Amino acid sequence: MRIVILPDPAAVAAFGAQQLIGQLQQKPSSVLGLATGSSPVQLYKRLVQAVQAGQVSMAEVTTFNLDEYLGLATTHSQSYRHFMNTHLFDQVDIRLAATHVLDGLSSDPQKACSAYEALIRDQGGVDLQLLGIGRNGHIGFNEPSSSLVSRTRVKTLTEDTVAANRRFFQPDEFQPHLALTMGIGTIMDAKQILLIATGQDKAEALRHTIEGPVSAHCPASILQMHAKATLVIDKAAAQGLQESAFYQYIEQERQRLVTPSEQA
Ligand code: F6R
Repeated sequence: MRIVILPDPAAVAAFGAQQLIGQLQQKPSSVLGLATGSSPVQLYKRLVQAVQAGQVSMAEVTTFNLDEYLGLATTHSQSYRHFMNTHLFDQVDIRLAATHVLDGLSSDPQKACSAYEALIRDQGGVDLQLLGIGRNGHIGFNEPSSSLVSRTRVKTLTEDTVAANRRFFQPDEFQPHLALTMGIGTIMDAKQILLIATGQDKAEALRHTIEGPVSAHCPASILQMHAKATLVIDKAAAQGLQESAFYQYIEQERQRLVTPSEQA
């Protein structure tokens, strides 16, 4: 795992956006795995700016989102399809038909999940998967105790996740307790993974993810087993790490290797 610790959320968003932009410049027809929630909002804003400035194009990109609430229509203001259209897709040159979000109103959710897996495979797999992390260590909606080799399926959300996401819903609005989500095995199949996290709320989950044992109790800890996973976090989220000085030292050394001429 590459662990990048940055001063604040703005730096995390800038670094994360640059990773995505770099990926798209290198492979314009990239298949991206995308996340929702508050973590990627600023990153998407920067990506939109880059596309609108002509720095990069998303015209050939295909996307697959991690998850969707079961029971919400795509038009619902809290559906993840709506989130993606608002924060990214409607503002860039991507073909909407090439953007995939699980259907929260599917009459046969399990069939929809299997079809999603097949579609990802047909597109050659995900090149770069963007992730946030829940304060209980979930990735996608793979809550603690999820099988570490799971595939896309229906999951029950924990009370903690429902509580954490209540802020997005109106007080009297229906909030789903079930979701469709890529599995942990599905996520791990991505060629590269980029997880972003900020704030003290995520510190405990990141401690387990980075320095704890690999365990279904903290689903994100499986990223220790991925050959190309980068975790970009701010200082507040890094608070619980015992070895944060070492991770920062590794990054300094990495910079020296990447840009040796600057050291002359
Ligand atoms: C969202 C997702 C979730 C979130 C996580 C963190 O598509 O899959 O795993 O990334 O719940 O959410 P925020 O960023 O709102 O703290």
